[in-house]
Amino acid sequence: MIGLAGATLVACADKSIPPRQLAGADPARGLALIEAEGCAACHAIPGVKWPRGAVGGSLAGFAGQSTLGGRFPNRPDTLAAWLRDAPAMAQDTAMPASGLTESQARDVAAYLYTLDAD
Ligand code: HEC
Repeated sequence: MIGLAGATLVACADKSIPPRQLAGADPARGLALIEAEGCAACHAIPGVKWPRGAVGGSLAGFAGQSTLGGRFPNRPDTLAAWLRDAPAMAQDTAMPASGLTESQARDVAAYLYTLDAD
């Protein structure tokens, strides 16, 4: 988690969101990890047919969002940290920490960044 505070401080005010690149990350591996981790128990996630949980909200169109969890910039580094340990970033969140490694979290982030609004 060291370095995260810096990452959140440089929140970009730019409203146009560029495509987000995660070097070496694999969205297909990310989707498999999403299924293995059971993210869909809490989130409706395009590409995952079942389940379609509602506790965490739908992740459809996530790539087009400027914020993450309503309070952090939606950036690859911040997202990967969130996916590994959301409570470390937001104590009051209902999103649990996962067992994802850093490289697995980057794969999952790469998949989430394929979820465009349409
Ligand atoms: C036990 C339920 C639960 C599980 C399991 C879960 N989440 Fe979440 N997730 C939540 C909740 C609740 C929020 C909203 C948190 C907040 O805003 O504080 C959230 C927020 C998020 C967000 C931010 C959404 C936004 O619109 O900003 C993403 C991305 C996300 N989750 C992805 C995942 C992924 C990927 C997994 C699997 C590794 C996962 N979640 C597993 C409950 C869950």
